[in-house]
Amino acid sequence: MGKIQRIGILTGGGDCPGLNAVIRAVTKTAIFHHQLEVFGIEDGFLGLIENRIRQLTPLDVSNILTLGGTILGSSNKADPTRWRDTPEHDPCDVTDRCLHHIEQHRLDALVCIGGDGTMSGAANFIHLGVNCVGVPKTIDNDVHGTDVTFGFGTAVTVATDALDRVHTTAASHHRAMVVEVMGRNAGWIALHAGVASGADVILLPEIPYDIDKVCQRVVERGQYGKRFTILSISEGARPVGGGQVVAQVVKDSPDPIRLGGVGKVVADQIQAKTGIEARATVLGYVQRGGTPIPADRVLGTEFGHAAIELLMSGAQSRLVVMKGRTVTDIPILDAANKQRLVPVDHPLVEAARDVGTDFGD
Ligand code: F6P
Repeated sequence: MGKIQRIGILTGGGDCPGLNAVIRAVTKTAIFHHQLEVFGIEDGFLGLIENRIRQLTPLDVSNILTLGGTILGSSNKADPTRWRDTPEHDPCDVTDRCLHHIEQHRLDALVCIGGDGTMSGAANFIHLGVNCVGVPKTIDNDVHGTDVTFGFGTAVTVATDALDRVHTTAASHHRAMVVEVMGRNAGWIALHAGVASGADVILLPEIPYDIDKVCQRVVERGQYGKRFTILSISEGARPVGGGQVVAQVVKDSPDPIRLGGVGKVVADQIQAKTGIEARATVLGYVQRGGTPIPADRVLGTEFGHAAIELLMSGAQSRLVVMKGRTVTDIPILDAANKQRLVPVDHPLVEAARDVGTDFGD
């Protein structure tokens, strides 16, 4: 492997707060500490396919630490192994085109910031000899091999605020209030925000719910004087023996299923079965947008810095991760196409149960 002089950086998959903190840390560490040249690849792997690659200077990444989103743009549809040049074309493998663009810009390594999909995209290039280092991102906190991803803390903060806010209106109107949060197949956001806000019921994809047990809890609360119920529900929650609620299918996305709508289903069932008024609020993209909380800016800075230090130490194909309170690394390939779900016996689930939270099981 030759000396690293020029690196490319891309952000793939759904955006999340803290991406810009990573881009800034990568770029500044690379330029200031190692005198490298840094090239931003626009819109994830799409920019690699379309050769939209531009040099980044310290000025380009100045004042972005507190900014949500990604200054590079992102895409969760661009898979170079199955790419359609126009909607009429059949999908084909354009990896060679990407390799050509990497060569043309003389990029010695790629920093790929993303979730499981982006890491499997990186794996494709690693197998062809491209040196990649991965940085895990997602509000869902479901990247295999790391205890935490940046963006998660901000999403939990937004979701907790929403749950706190519906609390007072639920109490005023004696209603059951359902707040549906994101997370795909992992219930981390619903669990953490539910615990943080003292939700009475938390429904996770990992613990299928029985709607009659959920209703029983709503009714019982009324019987001992609590005339409202707060429910924190993951978009991926599903009933025992039933499926998830699909909001839409995104054609050409490597992971085409978009979840959403279970909050309304549960609220309607509670109202129909108990006669108690129920309302649903879907938080959606407010969890992903806006200013990252300080902890996500710190984590993004630590991860971005570690990515460059890893590359410069000669490490290859590693993913920066957090284990306990230590930043360390694992093979990227370990995280490709895997999701870190909530273990049903996770200590936080146990603690929530012990303080009286219901999981509908
Ligand atoms: O992975 C992050 C996430 O926000 C999930 O929580 C959600 O299910 C999904 O992305 C939504 O994806 P899209 O941006 O394609 O609608």
